[in-house]
Amino acid sequence: MSESYTTHEVAQMAEIHRDTLLRWLREGRIPEPSRDRNGWRSFTLNEAQNIVQYAQSGVQPTLAQSTSLRETAVAYAATPLTNLDGLDWDFADAKTGYLTHSLHPYPAKYIPQIPNALIQELSSVGDTVLDPFCGSGTTLVEALLLKRNAIGVDANPLACMIARAKTARLDEAGMITLHHLAKRVAELSLRYTVGMLPLFPNLDHATTDALRPNFDGIDFWFDAHVIDELSELKALCLDIPNAIARDVALTVLSSIIVAVSRQDSDTRYVRRAKQIKPGETIQRFARALDAAILRVGEFTDLIEPRFRCEIHHANVLDAPLIGAVDLIVCSPPYPNAYSYHLYHRTRMLWLDMDQPAFKQAEIGSHRKYSKKGSGAANVNTFRTELGRILHWLRGLLRPGKYACFVVGDSTLKGETIHNDQVLAEAAAQCNYSVEANLTRRMQDSRKSFNPVIGKVKDEHIVILKNRG
Ligand SMILES: C[S@@+](CC[C@H](N)C(=O)[O-])C[C@H]1O[C@@H](n2cnc3c(N)ncnc32)[C@H](O)[C@@H]1O
Repeated sequence: MSESYTTHEVAQMAEIHRDTLLRWLREGRIPEPSRDRNGWRSFTLNEAQNIVQYAQSGVQPTLAQSTSLRETAVAYAATPLTNLDGLDWDFADAKTGYLTHSLHPYPAKYIPQIPNALIQELSSVGDTVLDPFCGSGTTLVEALLLKRNAIGVDANPLACMIARAKTARLDEAGMITLHHLAKRVAELSLRYTVGMLPLFPNLDHATTDALRPNFDGIDFWFDAHVIDELSELKALCLDIPNAIARDVALTVLSSIIVAVSRQDSDTRYVRRAKQIKPGETIQRFARALDAAILRVGEFTDLIEPRFRCEIHHANVLDAPLIGAVDLIVCSPPYPNAYSYHLYHRTRMLWLDMDQPAFKQAEIGSHRKYSKKGSGAANVNTFRTELGRILHWLRGLLRPGKYACFVVGDSTLKGETIHNDQVLAEAAAQCNYSVEANLTRRMQDSRKSFNPVIGKVKDEHIVILKNRG
């Protein structure tokens, strides 16, 4: 018999719903157990037995009734914020790519354990969680898994498509469509020969040619045979009538684009020769599609349809119209950290997305902060933008509820900018109280920020409360 028990196992032992157990923990009726390396709760046998006793007697045990409870009496006084303060936020060695989280790379996406812990502690089942900078949708996936409704906003159309695919619940027809697509691509990769065109004879070839992009620098970034293969795969994906299945297929296509291009990596927009062999693009697509079908299938099985997810493609500075929310969890863009419009450029142009419009809208991009002369953005630009965003968010967030921001520091013209402090100052002027400022050390392997632009070692989780 194992010596530690998961929340699910303890709920089963106590014959209660897992959500009931989570509520009791949140309300401090029973003490918090320790967490494992993935951040999941890990109950000892003694703790599990106390919970079973509590569930059966219906009476909250007094401290004298339980040695374990007496030992951890301090936990009775726990509030969501003290629970969060007690967490080891580094989540060293945690598994981060489960379910749909690994569907598509996304620079600076946060590890799912962060939104998971915040959502569990600061909201309840059925609540609505908003991520106003949803990126690839990490928060949205975790919110749905925890039985919350999810709303995401992002100005990057590629981010919105990835987030839609990662939160997709595919019906049977959608699943069949994707399996059918995988079969066609697998068959093609078996009969593929160098120079073979068309790859999919049944596709309308005029359409395929029309779908071939002709953006500036396409030949600089892609080999000719890669352009052929990507064009036909794109036509095949766009042929899918089911919108959700189409998003998944296009997300898979997007996921391989940087790897088969001459772009150095997801966060380095410089050319590097890669020797992509003819047929390799099709093989990569086939492998990525098989993995995506499995993951989307697993995710669909876990999510109850009554919990909704909506994703808005919008610039937060335009204060998009959204309903009331119970919790905000996000990692906002901040000065000089990233240039998503650049790293995602070829992907967006392949997918006919309006890359120049996103370039204009993007907050914090290196391009805006590294300009020479008086037109360059500076810390005051960010302060003003944050003020507008916090004001908009306060109109959406129910009074007394929390907004959590995960931010690192920036380096601007050699000077370190502590974005957690900039945020706290802007929040104080906007009728939020700063409830916590937690620090986490980023793992070296996950230090995905460009070290030339700004080294980031620590991150802060700033928790604000809407004072109403
Ligand atoms: C650090 S990333 C968020 C990553 C996300 N937490 C995840 O796990 O994938 C910041 C996001 O802010 C978005 N963004 C930048 N400027 C924006 C704007 N004006 N309006 C809305 N979103 C914006 C970027 O496109 C990017 O996806």
